[in-house]
Amino acid sequence: MTAYLVALSPQLQQSAQRLREQAQRRDGARQAAESLAAKPADAAPHDAAQAKQLFETKCSECHATDEVDKEPPASEDAARDLVKRMVEEGLTADEKELAQIVRYLTETYVKKSDP
Ligand code: HEC
Repeated sequence: MTAYLVALSPQLQQSAQRLREQAQRRDGARQAAESLAAKPADAAPHDAAQAKQLFETKCSECHATDEVDKEPPASEDAARDLVKRMVEEGLTADEKELAQIVRYLTETYVKKSDP
């Protein structure tokens, strides 16, 4: 019966495939967020302009980036936790991108308020 339906509906098949891909991307982002915790944000090569751009594109997919101004992270750990939480919400990015965003958040929001 299921085989019949799937054979009948290439659309159904495509949407199943899309869902699978989405789930895989999300798992990848989760894993990336997990392994972030082990590394200090400034261990990786860093391009400040690229990091800012990543922040502006990735973090505005669901809400305005000024969400961060309302509740800025107080430490690098808080920035990392925030990014992890957004991955749980559905943010997809690889580990390098997440690390860059954490570093951007740290340099922009944490270091500013902690002279
Ligand atoms: C897939 C959608 C999505 C993406 C992408 C996303 N967010 Fe969010 N964000 C949410 C949702 C949903 C909430 C509300 C969560 C809640 O109220 O529990 C939220 C809330 C927030 C808040 C409010 C405080 C808080 O902790 O709830 C901040 C700050 C924030 N996001 C920052 C970011 C940053 C930084 C990025 C990029 C790294 C980002 N978001 C990317 C969905 C997203």
